[in-house]
Amino acid sequence: MSDKNLFTPTRLGPHTLNHRVVLAPLTRMRAFESATPTELMAEYYAQRASPGGLLISEATVISPLGFPHHNVPAVYTDKQVEAWRLTTDAVHAKGGIIYLQLWHGGRASHRKLQPDEALPVAPSAIIPEGGGSMLPDGTRAPFETPREMSLDEVHSTIKDFASAATLAMSAGFDGVEVHGANGYLPDQFLQDGSNHRTDAYGGSVENRARFLLEVVEAVSTQIGADRVGVRISPNNPFNGISDSDPTTTFSYLTRELNSRDIGYLHVIEPRVRGNEDFEPGAESVASRELRPLFDRTLISAGGFTRESGNALVAEGVADLIAYGRHFISNPDLPERFRQGIELTPYDRSTFYGGDGHGYTDYPYAS
Ligand SMILES: Cc1cc2nc3c(=O)[nH]c(=O)nc-3n(C[C@H](O)[C@H](O)[C@H](O)COP(=O)(O)O)c2cc1C
Repeated sequence: MSDKNLFTPTRLGPHTLNHRVVLAPLTRMRAFESATPTELMAEYYAQRASPGGLLISEATVISPLGFPHHNVPAVYTDKQVEAWRLTTDAVHAKGGIIYLQLWHGGRASHRKLQPDEALPVAPSAIIPEGGGSMLPDGTRAPFETPREMSLDEVHSTIKDFASAATLAMSAGFDGVEVHGANGYLPDQFLQDGSNHRTDAYGGSVENRARFLLEVVEAVSTQIGADRVGVRISPNNPFNGISDSDPTTTFSYLTRELNSRDIGYLHVIEPRVRGNEDFEPGAESVASRELRPLFDRTLISAGGFTRESGNALVAEGVADLIAYGRHFISNPDLPERFRQGIELTPYDRSTFYGGDGHGYTDYPYAS
């Protein structure tokens, strides 16, 4: 046990953090025009910014093929990049630090969201069990059986991640987080339930981890490894993802990420599945198992309170704690934690879509 807590300053890559209460990436589906961020989104992020505090943006799509849902933001057109400036400027004006989460849905998509209504692409033509896409007409449709990516498509998608990272930096972000969690494309390559490829990107754990590691290398070449984070979600069945040996898969990946000197590893505890609480299996891999394998900053997320966050930081298991649902309904969450102020409960019905209600109208404590 150390005397560290959520309010002990620390470093993250090239940045100095005044506290360790991080905004977790949260999809809110309020980018209604051409996946372009809005002024309302800038206001939402600015409300949650604090001097030397880290915000991670909602998942942001890196190419026209990457949409899991409608009304989520993207980062591949000049217009989107310019519009993200509203957010980064507003967060920086409050002394905050903001990373962009880079997203490709892979098979977690639907042809109604794809160019020319083609099938979504994935490592293998395996349909996810459960889950579905929010479509432009406002309905939710089950995911479809995707089309297996060619090797050329694998390579061009890695390049798409790298150029999206470059664009993110030109939009004023302080770094990027590769979304390797929750059953989206990099996770589909990594875990063997969704990857039956027989080329260099499938089969052994070395091959299945290759896609994510090559994405990390390509992004790092563009913006510097110390500004790159990776999010993972071991033992989390969200979007129908599964692996026959999570301990081996996630230990291997963590060691490899460690050797690539990335700024941080962001681990979702297995007690959360996507956006809700979940009963994990006894053999689950979590921050505690991965900590000894990763030397730099480790962020833990998933079901934390002020007390459990402080405890994990004091123990040295996590350096930073990311909060999702509590940060939705408490824009001043770090200050509430600092002063021990009671939290406002969140309203799940306004998580996705809509206007400022349940988005920018949650109260500050003072
Ligand atoms: C409304 C909502 C949207 C989410 N969107 C994302 C996302 O875009 N990217 C991501 O990696 N995780 C996403 N998550 C998961 C959260 O980042 C976080 O891991 C989860 O809510 C558990 O943390 P909590 O218990 O503090 O809420 C989302 C969760 C919620 C509730």
